Amino acid sequence: MKDLMSKIISLAKRRGFIFQSSEIYGGIRGFYDFGPLGVELKNNIKKAWWENIVWQRKEIVGLDSSIIMNPKVWKASGHIDTFADPLAECKKCHKRFRADHLVEDFKDSAKLDEHGEFTKEELEDIAKAIEKIKCPECGGELMPPRQFNLMFKTFIGPVEEKGATAYLRPETAQGIFVNYKNIVDTQRSKVPFGIAQIGKAFRNEITPRNFIFRTREFEQMELEYFVKPENDQKFFKTWVKERMNWYVKDLGLDPKKLRIRPHEKDELSHYSKSCVDIEYQFPFGWGELEGIANRTDFDLKQHQKFSGADLRYFDEKTKKYYLPYVIEPSCGVDRILLALLCDAYQEVEGGRTKTTKSVKEVEILLKLNKKIAPIKVTILPLVKNKPKLVKKAKEIYDLLKSHFNCQYDEVGSIGRRYRRSDEVGVVFAVTCDFETLEQNDVTVRDRDTMEQERIKVENLVELLKQKLEK
Ligand code: GAP
Repeated sequence: MKDLMSKIISLAKRRGFIFQSSEIYGGIRGFYDFGPLGVELKNNIKKAWWENIVWQRKEIVGLDSSIIMNPKVWKASGHIDTFADPLAECKKCHKRFRADHLVEDFKDSAKLDEHGEFTKEELEDIAKAIEKIKCPECGGELMPPRQFNLMFKTFIGPVEEKGATAYLRPETAQGIFVNYKNIVDTQRSKVPFGIAQIGKAFRNEITPRNFIFRTREFEQMELEYFVKPENDQKFFKTWVKERMNWYVKDLGLDPKKLRIRPHEKDELSHYSKSCVDIEYQFPFGWGELEGIANRTDFDLKQHQKFSGADLRYFDEKTKKYYLPYVIEPSCGVDRILLALLCDAYQEVEGGRTKTTKSVKEVEILLKLNKKIAPIKVTILPLVKNKPKLVKKAKEIYDLLKSHFNCQYDEVGSIGRRYRRSDEVGVVFAVTCDFETLEQNDVTVRDRDTMEQERIKVENLVELLKQKLEK
């Protein structure tokens, strides 16, 4: 299964989905760049989320708040004091690791044998377990774990002094809480209502890993849904269902590879009363795509206390003031993108097209959901050395490009061009041949079925739109 991950990483790089950041300088750990196909895929994921969350629900509005905020926000939210992971450092090589991840890894029995017996209690108490675990890099002894704050610091203004310290946001959620009053006042929002935001978040992860699964800069899609305190668990359950549906119905992820995992009591974050994760079965194991938490009135209460602003909501019916509770579905664009790539990746032994059968290769098919696929249509002249044919194909490209994200490809045999487009999940291939010049029709090939049909050029846009909507 690890092998599948390296194949996906290699496809992502080879075809321009994802590159290592600053690669020509040797890269920088935990940071990635999204290439021409990656940025399209990301935009389509974000659009699908925004449409589902904001456009389709009249009580939810959008927001785009700043990444750097008044540092008091992070004091109030608890991030300055508690947003930390346990770090274990090797006494010999001084490499640093996430202590809880080391313990998780060592739960694998083969490793336990090498390191002697662990009791259940030792495995649950990270500090105790670490005493028995050796450095995975050099075998040296590890120092006792200490808490490491994950927020990136910077300075505001020209002087690098303590009073000028600011933080890159580790979650977009706080931007929503500090704008809660602005939204209520300007939008006349009535509980229950929601505020949604998509944006970058930054965490100085001790051990970024699994490609874009755990990085130091990533994008979140977060919704804070404000409800009456007594209705919190009802809305919590509703949102868990809604969000699971989105992954299956809107993104087309395989439901067998999705699961809901409730948090254990000792796993809950400092702000939440209950929380579940929606997890995907990646080639490296189950991993969180989204957390859905009941944050209670923790954040509004804290911001009210630290800012002095009155954040209570006035209920017109009961004429009473209260602080709403918050249900928060929060997911990561990068992790969803990785799950989509893993889910869509298929290898066809011996090939799907005639070209590959002759060379006995394996063909790659990226069976991405039609709505999410980065390129919808590729336009192919049958041959590139017939100027009339090329001109016609370019005219068709011009016709389609204002409706769909298209590409024009004239290099190589038609079979090779089909393969190239299947590999990145292009949904339809439109081929112009000699008949096109006489009949004004083209061949439309479906990526998944490989069926081909002849379509009049004047009906092409409508037909492709219908097929993409199906
Ligand atoms: N506001 C709540 C919050 O931030 P979280 O579980 O820490 O909760 C929410 O993060 C989502 O953000 C996760 O489910 C994951 O998809 C994404 N995420 C968190 N840390 C990440 C990282 N280091 N790299 C990539 N995505 C990350």
